[in-house]
Amino acid sequence: MAIRKIVTVGDPILNKVCRPVTKFDDRLATLIDDMFETMHEANGVGLAGPQVGILRRVVVVDTGEEDVELVNPEIVCVSDETQTGLEGCLSVPGKYGIVTRPMCATVRAQDRFGDWYEYDGEEIVARAFLHEIDHLDGHIYTEIAEKMLSPEELDELMSQQDEEDEIEEEEEV
Ligand code: NI
Repeated sequence: MAIRKIVTVGDPILNKVCRPVTKFDDRLATLIDDMFETMHEANGVGLAGPQVGILRRVVVVDTGEEDVELVNPEIVCVSDETQTGLEGCLSVPGKYGIVTRPMCATVRAQDRFGDWYEYDGEEIVARAFLHEIDHLDGHIYTEIAEKMLSPEELDELMSQQDEEDEIEEEEEV
């Protein structure tokens, strides 16, 4: 496995539509393994092909419980219920924005061997599925963010969350 270089905004590759994967070979397996390693090394929850310079429909997501590989993924359905929260991207380093997305998303995808399966994602996992699949169509979350946060606003939000966490911890005791 190897860590690949993450492409950042300004590189036109991030605005291109990716082609489907048609060959389920060792090269694809190596790409997926490299993407998992690159995502973990960067502390990300998801990574899409174009972010490592590959214009193919491949996504990896860390659900917190397991690593999921999504080849040729399609959104099967999304919930009417939405979530509004902080979103960032490894290709937009140091920036965060507020984005509203469906609370739940079901994805149909192939694994590295070409077998199809479905995966239900909630909350951050649904957010990651939708964010990463947008990458495959050349879209970045900054296009749909309701608001991008300045470093000061981000600091303020983080310190508010810290305080809330402390209160919760105290309540548990
Ligand atoms: Ni991203």
